[in-house]
Amino acid sequence: MSETHRDQYLIREEPYYRTVEDEVRLYEAAYAARMPVMLKGPTGCGKSRFVEYMAWRLERPLITVACNEDMTASDLVGRFLLDADGTRWQDGPLTVAARIGAICYLDEVVEARQDTTVVIHPLTDHRRCLPLEKKGELVEAHPDFQIVISYNPGYQSLMKDLKQSTKQRFGALDFSYPGAAIEAEIVAHEGGIERDQADRLVQVAQRSRNLKGHGLDEGMSTRLLVYAAQLMAKGIEPRAAAQMALVRPLTDDPDMRDTLDAAVDTYF
Ligand SMILES: Nc1ncnc2c1ncn2[C@@H]1O[C@H](COP(=O)(O)OP(=O)(O)O)[C@@H](O)[C@H]1O
Ligand SMILES: [Mg+2]
Repeated sequence: MSETHRDQYLIREEPYYRTVEDEVRLYEAAYAARMPVMLKGPTGCGKSRFVEYMAWRLERPLITVACNEDMTASDLVGRFLLDADGTRWQDGPLTVAARIGAICYLDEVVEARQDTTVVIHPLTDHRRCLPLEKKGELVEAHPDFQIVISYNPGYQSLMKDLKQSTKQRFGALDFSYPGAAIEAEIVAHEGGIERDQADRLVQVAQRSRNLKGHGLDEGMSTRLLVYAAQLMAKGIEPRAAAQMALVRPLTDDPDMRDTLDAAVDTYF
């Protein structure tokens, strides 16, 4: 595989990532052991940013696949394509990652059907290989290859959970919203607003997170706080910014909306 091919997946600039606990050290050890890693946590809490940061830090290419229920095993491993000269094999993202020694990040892996997910199994144990059955090739993973998956344990129904046989192939890191001081630091940095404004946004989010399971499926994410901050940095009044970025995306229920708007009014 050519170097240019590998280079296109390298992250050139350091992504901004604010360390929350011990995750960098733990991930580095897992990578050194080429252990498959699962990042667990709610949406918008920093999982994808963390993987980008770690790929940059370890100087490894990163190939990200956003999983969905229509995804098939062929979408991951590859397929024969028809062209003027007949058929031609095209590697899927998982195969490319295995060949070039990338970190392959399967985002929201539970969205994929279980018969899709099982294709990663041979890559996650001592075999570290990927059979391309249709092509009749056994790809041996490059020594640098690692597989990382993310998932949000909150959303799972029994039908849509990872099999134990899949789960137990990974070391797992729990992600959640950072503590208030760290989260405000992130929001101020990413949104380009003053720290005291960021502190207020975080307080609103913490209120909403207490409503999880009491009318809300999920509280306001760090991502939404960054959105609100970005609107404020563009000159939008804090209340309007919070309504647009924090409250409206979260709920369609008028009572809950009023409750959250009232929380916003408390802080702005
Ligand atoms: N620890 C962190 N350091 C820097 N930015 C963060 C952090 N956590 C969250 N963010 C911000 O929140 C946004 C959403 O995070 P992301 O990694 O996309 O969430 P997830 O993948 O968990 O859904 C990021 O784009 C970034 O602006
Ligand atoms: Mg993500």
